[in-house]
Amino acid sequence: MRTSQPQTIYLKDYRAPVFLVDHVDMRFELFESGARVHSVLSMRRNPDSDSADKSLELDGDSLTRLESVSLDGNPLEQDAYEDSIDKLVIHQVPDRFELGVVTWIEPQNNTRLEGLYKSSGMFCTQCEAEGFRCITYFPDRPDVMARFRTRIEADKTLFPILLSNGNDVEKGDLEDGRHFVTWEDPFPKPCYLFALVAGDLVEKRDSFNTMSGRDIDLRMYVEPRNSEKCDHAMESLKRAMRWDEEVYGREYDLDIFMIVAVDDFNMGAMENKGLNIFNSSCVLASQETATDLAFQRIESIVAHEYFHNWSGNRVTCRDWFQLSLKEGFTVFRDSQFSADMGSPTVKRIEDATMLRTAQFAEDSGPMAHPVRPESYMEITNFYTLTIYEKGCEVVRMIRTLLGADMFRKGSDLYFERHDGQAVTTDDFVRAMEDATGRDLSQFRLWYEQAGTPELTVRDQYDEAAGIYRLTIDQAIPDTPGQTNKKPQHIPFAVGLLGAEGESLPLKLAVDDVEAPVDRVLELTETSHTFEFHGLSERPTPSLLRDFSAPVRVFYPWTREQLTFLMSHDPDGFNRWDAGQRLAVDVISSLLGAGSEAVDPGLIKAYRALLADSSLDQALVAKMLQLPSEAYLIELAEKPNVPAIHKARERVLEHMARALRDELLACYHRNTIAGSYEVTPESVARRSLRNTALAWLLHIDDEEGRALATSQFADADNMTDRLGALRALVNSGYEQEREQALTSFYERWKSDPQVVEQWFSVQSGSSRTGGLRKIHELMEHPTFDWKNPNKIRSVIGVFAGQNLPAFHEEEGSGYRFLAEQVRRLDDSNPQIAARLVSPLTRWRKFAPVHGDQMRMALESIRDKSGLSRDVYEVVHKSLA
Ligand code: PHE
Ligand code: ZN
Repeated sequence: MRTSQPQTIYLKDYRAPVFLVDHVDMRFELFESGARVHSVLSMRRNPDSDSADKSLELDGDSLTRLESVSLDGNPLEQDAYEDSIDKLVIHQVPDRFELGVVTWIEPQNNTRLEGLYKSSGMFCTQCEAEGFRCITYFPDRPDVMARFRTRIEADKTLFPILLSNGNDVEKGDLEDGRHFVTWEDPFPKPCYLFALVAGDLVEKRDSFNTMSGRDIDLRMYVEPRNSEKCDHAMESLKRAMRWDEEVYGREYDLDIFMIVAVDDFNMGAMENKGLNIFNSSCVLASQETATDLAFQRIESIVAHEYFHNWSGNRVTCRDWFQLSLKEGFTVFRDSQFSADMGSPTVKRIEDATMLRTAQFAEDSGPMAHPVRPESYMEITNFYTLTIYEKGCEVVRMIRTLLGADMFRKGSDLYFERHDGQAVTTDDFVRAMEDATGRDLSQFRLWYEQAGTPELTVRDQYDEAAGIYRLTIDQAIPDTPGQTNKKPQHIPFAVGLLGAEGESLPLKLAVDDVEAPVDRVLELTETSHTFEFHGLSERPTPSLLRDFSAPVRVFYPWTREQLTFLMSHDPDGFNRWDAGQRLAVDVISSLLGAGSEAVDPGLIKAYRALLADSSLDQALVAKMLQLPSEAYLIELAEKPNVPAIHKARERVLEHMARALRDELLACYHRNTIAGSYEVTPESVARRSLRNTALAWLLHIDDEEGRALATSQFADADNMTDRLGALRALVNSGYEQEREQALTSFYERWKSDPQVVEQWFSVQSGSSRTGGLRKIHELMEHPTFDWKNPNKIRSVIGVFAGQNLPAFHEEEGSGYRFLAEQVRRLDDSNPQIAARLVSPLTRWRKFAPVHGDQMRMALESIRDKSGLSRDVYEVVHKSLA
């Protein structure tokens, strides 16, 4: 709990550490009543520090008791040091010494899930970003890298498995039924990559033969009840290991690679050296319990954590302002991997959707920050979409500008030059420049300036000269603390289409004979005009192909142009995007007017989509999804949420009625006879079929109802079962809905990953009764205030997805959320701070809503003893 006003930490204040740690020798004694942690740090003065300070300062947090301190083996007297709530200061230390510290901590009472804690009976750790200091006093910063040796002692029956980073070098029995295992990690690492696990777990083994012929032991550790849910993660891991060798030339370095699944985890997963720890929901899967989406998510998260072994662990961050150095780059690597494993276009659509819906919102709200932030109060609040997803886009743009081969040269140089170091995003960009000779100085603004660039595109066709001109103006909106921004270096991919849909050569000069049909224009000024020659008719422009930059594009598309692009653009992403823009336009036009008819053009376009089986069905499945309410809200100036909801529902209903027969045909055409597989093709077919079903149930179609109930009963996989359940929940068939919910729960109540989905289906549905339903779910015996996944699947999903209920007129949704945040603030401030997010954008809404959102924020602000995490979000939002 906070005792004084939280301090702001600035990048400009960065100083090299005064002391370094070469080696850490740890001994953990684990008991039911707590844990005793012995550490011996081999330390020396840092030659690169200019400080002459003789005293040593270590970080600490929530440590129950400091039991002893010793210097070079001699116990220190009380007056030789000073320990406070967050620091241990040793007044006088030599230039080289061994510091011994013994602390007593209580993992069983650790509800913050930072440091060492217990999750369903097992001990586990989470140290990123600053959790290690909850275990013992330590210079807890990523530029202090040390070799760790870790001995774990615990009861042998309760905790047969004892794990830490590196290789197990010694094990044996102790008195009183206890045993120990000692682990040694040969690679120096920052303490945020430290991990320990102790539990009664089953082990799944496999192996991987590396590019240089070494055999790596792959091990997964899970609770016995989950032993059948490991195969997919293991296979994903092997694919990721192979891919990183082939695409980045990166080989695994230790002899063992371990994955552990835990039920209580604040985030998705963690890349601890050689011992990745996962939120169960991000690693465990079986055909019966996990959806296709979950299978894909697991593959990408397993890959993400594995890829961190190079982009994050071997080369790590100098300080937490550089977080995107490892996260942006690693998200980029995992997105390339997923694209290679499935459909690149679909992956691009998913990434762009997330960015445009949620990251753009963040980037225009009160918490907006650059990819490399300048300051923070609580670093945990900066594990954001901007650091991760926009950071990924920034790396992607570097690759687009350099080309694949040059980018690989740059990444090779980066890994080689900085192996074993803690570096900055600037070092990353410099490696890209040095390897290729490209000047990326203006490009660096992507790291420094927050806000989503806005591109306004105008065009003009000069028939007599056969010239088509595109003028692109860029502007970057003000964000907290930043105004008058400089123009950025933006790769803008374009194409031009002729009347028959053919790709036209892009001649930037009259005599440009070998002009390509695809070009990446480089925008560097506030305004650019490009002239395309040799055009005998006015072309249709295809702008920002493949979403080549994380920007908003404004161009006065006509509905005819959009329909045309939807069926002709060779760029799959822009085909999808044209459909989205058309749908947005149609839905928006219904907002004011009550009775305006839904544009038959939209129906015609969707009918064509449904009919054409020659199209990439994965793309069709995506194109059939109407833009989400969240995206429509994000696009609107002062969004009226109930009106948006109604307009979207009207379009959906209208289309479902008009396309009923096509939807039924689509449903049947995509019923898969054979056994379940997670291939891109079968995933697409299930997705199409379930979308068709959802649309049919939306209009309470009797045949749809029959299909849904039988699909629900007969499905041999979770995608279809949950698809049917969701369709029923969102229909008017109350009896079928309740029956399905009950039978689903009865069947899966002992499986937390499935119960989470059962919660989400209900809390995210606008047809289940709003807040009343949410309260009911929170009273449910399987709801657990200590489990972040349950909190997210009920409260988070309600506030993030059940938008008409959350934005209900009287403000009950806002007050409810504020109450839950206040309640959670003491026990898990990290999760509490994340939950606040939907309220932070109160200024975007009209006063009827905005004022109530602000009042909800104020009620959180006024809670006494507010955590630093929540304090930062609330105060910045109200500022
Ligand atoms: N570093 C983790 C990842 O992105 C995320 C994480 C951050 C997990 C902080 C736990 C705590 O892979
Ligand atoms: Zn990561």
